[in-house]
Amino acid sequence: MSTTACAAQQIITLYSDLALNPHKDFGWDKGIENARNQGYKEEWIKQLPAGVWDYCAAVGNPFSLGEIPTGSTVLDLGCGAGVDVCVAALLVGESGKVIGVDITPLMVETAKRHAAEANLHNVQVVEATLESLPFEDESVDIIISNGAINLTSSKEKVFAEAFRVLRPKGKLYFADMIKRSDIQASACCSQDSWADCVAGTLEKACLLAQISGAGFSDAQCMGHTHYTTSASTIGATFRAVKKG
Ligand SMILES: C[S@@+](CC[C@H](N)C(=O)[O-])C[C@H]1O[C@@H](n2cnc3c(N)ncnc32)[C@H](O)[C@@H]1O
Repeated sequence: MSTTACAAQQIITLYSDLALNPHKDFGWDKGIENARNQGYKEEWIKQLPAGVWDYCAAVGNPFSLGEIPTGSTVLDLGCGAGVDVCVAALLVGESGKVIGVDITPLMVETAKRHAAEANLHNVQVVEATLESLPFEDESVDIIISNGAINLTSSKEKVFAEAFRVLRPKGKLYFADMIKRSDIQASACCSQDSWADCVAGTLEKACLLAQISGAGFSDAQCMGHTHYTTSASTIGATFRAVKKG
């Protein structure tokens, strides 16, 4: 099996386990306390079923990075069990639309179930890879993502796809794990830790260069979060715009 196929299989195995066992300890923060620590609003916490929040593996809060206007179309890359999909659906309202994409079939099923349980009818969840999005050019207004891009085999392809599907003036708001620049590479990890959001992380400057390289303007790191997946990684939030 190639390294890429092997990493994808590790990801599907790990996140299927999470889909089936939300209370299991995987070694990283999740659940409603994690949502509160990341600044998710109490009004969202109250509006969604408690079971949805059990799955919140957010490494940061993409909703802190800019407005999500009513009526907009939002795409969540690596939506997992659909926590951010459901929050975005509350924000865009019935005149808007939210699409979640995930590689793990059991996560897609779980996200669909959560949207139905939350009575959100403006949600679509699709099984696909972030490196090859099954959507038309210039078809979404805002892309969000949380803890998923570091897991992908080619971040360049992911940002190129994000740029392609965004409309002019579209926004990219995401949180992700990055590699700490003050830790030696040798202190980092093997391919075995890819699915745990360690081995696939890049340093901030490298990630920003890849975002800009895909065509985005004003790529910025907005700060670090409390989240860690190893001694060599830290959560961070990013935003960029596709200039019109
Ligand atoms: C750490 S979880 C985060 C889930 C969710 N965003 C959250 O905040 O709770 C990462 C998710 O990304 C998905 N994923 C990883 N690599 C992917 C890829 N190449 N294409 C699509 N989804 C991917 C995994 O299946 C998993 O559900």
